[in-house]
Amino acid sequence: MRFKLKSILSLAVAGCVFTGNPTLNAGPASAAPPERISIDDDWRFTKGDPTNSAVSLLYDVRQPKQIRRLAAVEADGNASLASMTNSADATNLPVSVIKQWILPTGNEFIKDPAKRFVRPEGNVADGVAFAQPGFDDTSWQEINLPHDWAIAGPFTHSGGGGMGRLPTAGIGWYRKKLDIPAGDAGKCIFLDVDGAMSYSTVWLNGQVVGGWPYGYASWRVDLTPFVKCGGPNELVIRLDNPPNSSRWYPGAGIYRNVWLVKTSPVHVGHWGTYLTTPEVSPAAATVNLKVTVDNDSKQSAAVAVTTEIFALDADGRKGGTALASIAPVDLQIAASTNAVAEGGATVANPKLWGPPPTQKPNRYVAVTTISQDGKVVDSYATPFGIRTIKFDSNEGCFINGEHVPLHGVSDHHDLGALGAAFNTRAAQRQLEILQDMGCNAIRTSHNPPAPELLELADRMGFLVMDEMFDCWQRSKTPNDFHLSFDDWHEQDMRAQIRRDRNSPSVTFWSIGNEVGEQYTGTNGAALAQQLCDIAHDEDPTRPTITAMNWAKPDMPLPAVVDVIGLNYQGEGIRDTPEFAGTDRIRTSPQYPAFHAKFPDKLILSTETASAFSSRGVYLFPVTKDISSPVRDGRGGDPKIHEVSAYELYAVDFGSSADKVFASLERHPFVAGEFVWCGWDYLGEPTPYDSSRSSYAGIIDLAGFKKDRFYLYQSHWRPDFPMAHILPHWTWPDRIGQVTPVHVFTSGDEAELFLNGKSLGRKKKDAYEYRLRWDDVVYQPGALKAVAYKNGKRWATDEVETAGEAAKLKLEPDRDTIRADGKDLSFVTVTVTDKNGLTAPRADNRVRFAISGPGEIVATDNGDPTSFEPFQSHDRKAFNGLCLVIIRGTAGQPGIIKLTATADGVRVGTASIKTMLSLN
Ligand code: GAL
Repeated sequence: MRFKLKSILSLAVAGCVFTGNPTLNAGPASAAPPERISIDDDWRFTKGDPTNSAVSLLYDVRQPKQIRRLAAVEADGNASLASMTNSADATNLPVSVIKQWILPTGNEFIKDPAKRFVRPEGNVADGVAFAQPGFDDTSWQEINLPHDWAIAGPFTHSGGGGMGRLPTAGIGWYRKKLDIPAGDAGKCIFLDVDGAMSYSTVWLNGQVVGGWPYGYASWRVDLTPFVKCGGPNELVIRLDNPPNSSRWYPGAGIYRNVWLVKTSPVHVGHWGTYLTTPEVSPAAATVNLKVTVDNDSKQSAAVAVTTEIFALDADGRKGGTALASIAPVDLQIAASTNAVAEGGATVANPKLWGPPPTQKPNRYVAVTTISQDGKVVDSYATPFGIRTIKFDSNEGCFINGEHVPLHGVSDHHDLGALGAAFNTRAAQRQLEILQDMGCNAIRTSHNPPAPELLELADRMGFLVMDEMFDCWQRSKTPNDFHLSFDDWHEQDMRAQIRRDRNSPSVTFWSIGNEVGEQYTGTNGAALAQQLCDIAHDEDPTRPTITAMNWAKPDMPLPAVVDVIGLNYQGEGIRDTPEFAGTDRIRTSPQYPAFHAKFPDKLILSTETASAFSSRGVYLFPVTKDISSPVRDGRGGDPKIHEVSAYELYAVDFGSSADKVFASLERHPFVAGEFVWCGWDYLGEPTPYDSSRSSYAGIIDLAGFKKDRFYLYQSHWRPDFPMAHILPHWTWPDRIGQVTPVHVFTSGDEAELFLNGKSLGRKKKDAYEYRLRWDDVVYQPGALKAVAYKNGKRWATDEVETAGEAAKLKLEPDRDTIRADGKDLSFVTVTVTDKNGLTAPRADNRVRFAISGPGEIVATDNGDPTSFEPFQSHDRKAFNGLCLVIIRGTAGQPGIIKLTATADGVRVGTASIKTMLSLN
C-alpha cells in the first residue's frame, strides 16, 4: 500500500494498562479474569552452562557458540533435534540444536499458515541438568527481575569498547518456583516476557515450552500444556548472549518485566485489540475497535463482546462513568480458533492527545468484556488517545491541526548505572529531563522499547519513532540480528506493531537504521518493500521510515518508504576539504535533492549532530568555526580522553547543534530532527574507544546536563526565559589567558559583564544560535550575562570563581518515594566551596553510608572514562558532581538517611521518606 501524504490520520491505541510500577500504575483494574501477575521476584540465577552437561545447547548452527565454538557445521534451516558432534568443539559434547522448539512460539505472527512451524516430537531436556525438575539451585544467586547480569562488571579493557566493556557475553540461567493453585485448572496460563537478552529458551517442569531470539522483543509462551495445577511448578529460562552482537551495550539477562497471565479458555488474544479513530472533529470522534477473541477450549463458544469507553486522568486513573459504548457483538468461535469482533462508537467533544507545552496528552480507555453464556469470562483494557496527524511534505507535521516541529532525540535503552535492567522511574526521569529541554519526540534507537517506555510517552505526550532493527540481512557486527533476520523478521515486526499500535505516542514505524541494504540497490529496496508491507498490513494508519546515511534520492530504497529519514545527510557528511580523499562516506547537503525527487514525501532527520563533549571539561584553544570534527588538541585531549564542552565538536560525519539548527532553518520543509543523542549510553565511546560510555549525549550518563542541554533548550523553548554561560569561571591556571565565553539564550541578544565591566552587547544574526565573546581574558571574579528579547530584559545567568572544595551538598530529585523495592530517588552530590558555590573541577572521592529501609543501588559521575564499579559505595566526583541512586525496601516505609563524606570537606546528608503509597 502507498502511504498518502497530506491525508489526515487519526490514530489511537490500545494495549493493557501496565501494572508494573505502582508509580504509574493507576490504570483501570480489570474485572475478575484475567489475572496478570508480576513474577519479577525470587528468581535464582547462574552464569554458564553446567560443567558436567551431557549435551551442549545451541539455538541454531548459524549462531556462534559462546564457549565451544561450532565452526564446521553447515547452516541447517530446518534443524530438528539434531545431535551433532563437532570436531571444533573443544569438549566434544553432542550439540542439541533447539531452534525448532523456539520457532513455533512466533506462529501467531506469521501470516501465511503454510509457513508456520510445527513443534517437533520429544523434548529438549535430557542431559540438560539445569532444566530438570528438582534441580538443586540453592547455591545460585538470589535475584529479582528486571536483571542485567553484566552491569555488575567487572569492566574489561581488552578488545573494542563498542559493547560497553562489561561482561554481556555468555550463557545465563534463571529458575523460579511457581505455585499454581488447584483452582486454576482449566485456565490458560501464559508467560509474558517483556524482554530478555537474548536467544531465550523456556522450560516448565522439565518440558521445553518455546522462546524467542531477539533480545528486544516482547513475547509470550503458552505454559498451559505443561502446568501442574495444585502444586509447585519449576520455570527455567536459559539465555545465550553472543559476543560481537551489537554496536552498543545490549545488557544481558531478563532485563525487563515478566508476567504470569491467567485467562479463561475464551479470552482476548495476545495484544488482541486494535483501536483507531478515523474521524475526529471538535464535536465528535469515531472510535473503531477490533477485538480478536481466542477460543482455546475444545468446544465451540458463543460469546458476546461489549466495550465501554472511559476517560483516563493524568495519572492513568479511569473515570467512573462510561462516555460511550460499542454495541455488543455476538461471535460463534469454533474450538481452537479465534474470531474478530468489530465495532464502533462516538466520543462526544473529545479531549485530544497531543504534545506539551501547547497540547495535553489526554487519554481514554476502552474496557472490553467477553461474556460466555451470560457470564463474564474476560475483561481487557485498551488505553488510547484521540488525535489527528497531518504529514505535509512542505511544512512538516501537524498534530490536531497545530504545526509541531519534531524536536527529538534518538536514545538507546540502557539506564546508565542501572544498566539495561528496566526501571520505570529511571526511564521517567530521562523523559522528564528531556521534556524540560523542550524535547517532544524520541526515537527508540534501534529496537523495540520496553512497553512501559511507551506508556510513559503516552502519558507525558512524546511523539515516538518506534524502531525495529539496526540491521536486516547484512550484518554490522558478526553475531548481530542478521543471523535471525530471515527466520524472525516477520514475527518480530508483527509482534512489535501489535503491541504498540494503540499507543497514541507512536507516530512512525522505523523499519531499520542505516541498514547495509542501502548498498544493494533493487534487492535492498525489495526487502524494504516487504517490511513496509508487513507494517502496513498490521497498521495502515502510520507511515514507515528508514534512517538512511548513504542512500541518495536516485537510489531505489528511498522510493519504498513512506517518509524519508536522513541520518546526517541533510547537513552533509564530511563535506569539508579536510576530508578530501577519504574512503568514508562524503556527502553534500541532501535536503534539497530529496525534496526535489520526492515532493510529496515528508522528510525528517532521523539522526543529527553526533556532537561530543564531556560535562564540565573545557579545552583550549577553542575553534572559531561553528562546527568541527574532534581531533587531538582540537576539542579532544588524548591524555585524559575527554572532549571539550564548548559544544562545537562532533564525530567526523556529524555536526554541532548550531550547524544542524541552521540547516533545518534553511530547509523549513524538513519536519524536524532526532538528535544523536539525548542521553549518554554505555558503549560506543567514540572518539576514545578505551572509555566505557559515549560522549554524544546532551545529558551525561549520570543524568547531569551538559552545556549543550541549554543550547537545545534555548532553541526549542523560545518562550522560556533562560540564559546560560559557559565555561565555569574557576581557572587559577589561566589568569591573563584568553578564555572564550559563550552564552546560550532564548533571547536574541545579551550583554556580558566581567566583574561588573561590560564586555559588550551582542546580537544573534540569522542562523546563529549562540553569542560568543572569544577574546575574554580570564581574571577571577564574576561573569554575568544579561539577555534581551525584542529589546526587553529577558533572562540572566552568572558564574563566579569558586574557592577550595569545602562542603558536600546532597539533593534528592524526590525526597519521598514508594517503599515498593522499585521506586528510586536520584541524589545529586555537589562539591562546593565554603560559600556553597560549585567547585567545578573538584574530583574528591566521596564515600556513602546509608541507614533506614533502603539501599544504594548504584553510583556514577557521568565521566566516560570512569571504571569504578557502578555498585561502589564510593565514587570520585567528576567536575564537582556525582550521583547516588537510592531504592526503598519493599513494604518497609520509613526514613532513609544518606551520608556523604570526603577527606577535608564537611559531611553532607539527605533524608528520603519512603511510603507504602504516595496517593
Ligand atoms: C550513527 C548510528 C548510531 C550511532 C551514531 C554514533 O551513524 O546510526 O547508531 O552509532 O552513528 O555517532
